[in-house]
Amino acid sequence: MSEVELQGIKKQYEGAERPVIPDLALTVPSGQMAVLVGPSGCGKSTTLRMVAGLEEPTAGTIKIGGRDVTHVAPAERDIAMVFQSYALYPHMTVFENMAFGLRIKHLPEAEIQTRVFAAAESLGLRPYLERRPKALSGGQRQRVAIGRAVVRAPKVFLFDEPLSNLDAKLRSDMRREIARIHQASKTTSMYVTHDQIEAMTLADMIVVLKDGVIQQIGTPVDIYERPANRFVAGFFGTPSMNFLTADLKATAGRELARGPGFEIPLAARTGLRPAKDAVGKVVVGVRPERLSLVGNTDDVALSGEVAMREVLGAEVVLHLDSAAGPLTVRTDAGSAPRPGDTVQVWLDPKAIHVFDGATELRL
Ligand SMILES: Nc1ncnc2c1ncn2[C@@H]1O[C@H](COP(=O)(O)OP(=O)(O)OP(=O)(O)O)[C@@H](O)[C@H]1O
Ligand SMILES: [Mg+2]
Repeated sequence: MSEVELQGIKKQYEGAERPVIPDLALTVPSGQMAVLVGPSGCGKSTTLRMVAGLEEPTAGTIKIGGRDVTHVAPAERDIAMVFQSYALYPHMTVFENMAFGLRIKHLPEAEIQTRVFAAAESLGLRPYLERRPKALSGGQRQRVAIGRAVVRAPKVFLFDEPLSNLDAKLRSDMRREIARIHQASKTTSMYVTHDQIEAMTLADMIVVLKDGVIQQIGTPVDIYERPANRFVAGFFGTPSMNFLTADLKATAGRELARGPGFEIPLAARTGLRPAKDAVGKVVVGVRPERLSLVGNTDDVALSGEVAMREVLGAEVVLHLDSAAGPLTVRTDAGSAPRPGDTVQVWLDPKAIHVFDGATELRL
């Protein structure tokens, strides 16, 4: 068992006015992959580096497999970390780079060979074992860096944007490779990425951070379908969710979000009780793929002028100017509207997200 547990973690760098991480609690259950996402500078790498032992927390406790490692040296934590810059030893062959951590642990030569060959096989590195890193492509080097972590069979893998130096094709190959390795080894992992596809496909749990504060922890589906607040809603999804500012009206037992040019019934979606929930401001969120150029019964119409049309192959993204503000619609590439056209788009009241106008929390 190698659950990772962070309790009451605070991190304030020396000389800094405010802590990067004020008070963080996070448990990654044994065998799970937690993916950390959030804007640049929100403290993702800092969190990983504290788990690795490369940074000391200002306060709080870090446990791995129940053991308090807060003040334990990195080498004694039984973790392996893969960075964006793979930092291989240039004078060593691929084999020796991968074997290095095992030699330090004085594993028998036969065991070292078995582990390195197995990892090299699964990562497609067998032909390169005798080469030096400078004779490898970027993608091959990154494989060596991953292989070097894998052979150690650590309690915990830490990945800090391991694929962001690779081109799109290699990235998706390596993403699947990492998923396969995780499936096979079931090693507790923490993975930082800016890539939403990586986050959605690799994560057992996604941790969304903003300014060192956890906004939501959930499965990829949770995060996408039930974002806890407006920030999470806007952070996940490409293009981003549309937000419409509206007044919440509760009249005659019906709840409505009313804004310029639209009136959306809310009862089905939020279950707000008019007696309890006073009239106020709300923000209605709707994903671009949930706006349609074709309406169904009960759909709400919004009208706007096409400002831009982006063709993405099979799909097209229409950017509209409407009375309610800018709207983004994702639809199939065969759709007709062109810049300058005025179109009606349809919103399914059951497909919306509603956030409190003041707290921005999901209602
Ligand atoms: N050694 C350091 N000394 C002082 N401040 C630091 C140090 N390392 C990081 N910081 C600051 O801490 C904050 C969080 O940095 P961190 O590297 O954890 O962000 P991140 O979420 O990994 O961002 P990115 O997505 O850009 O990698 C940033 O404001 C950064 O400037
Ligand atoms: Mg970082």
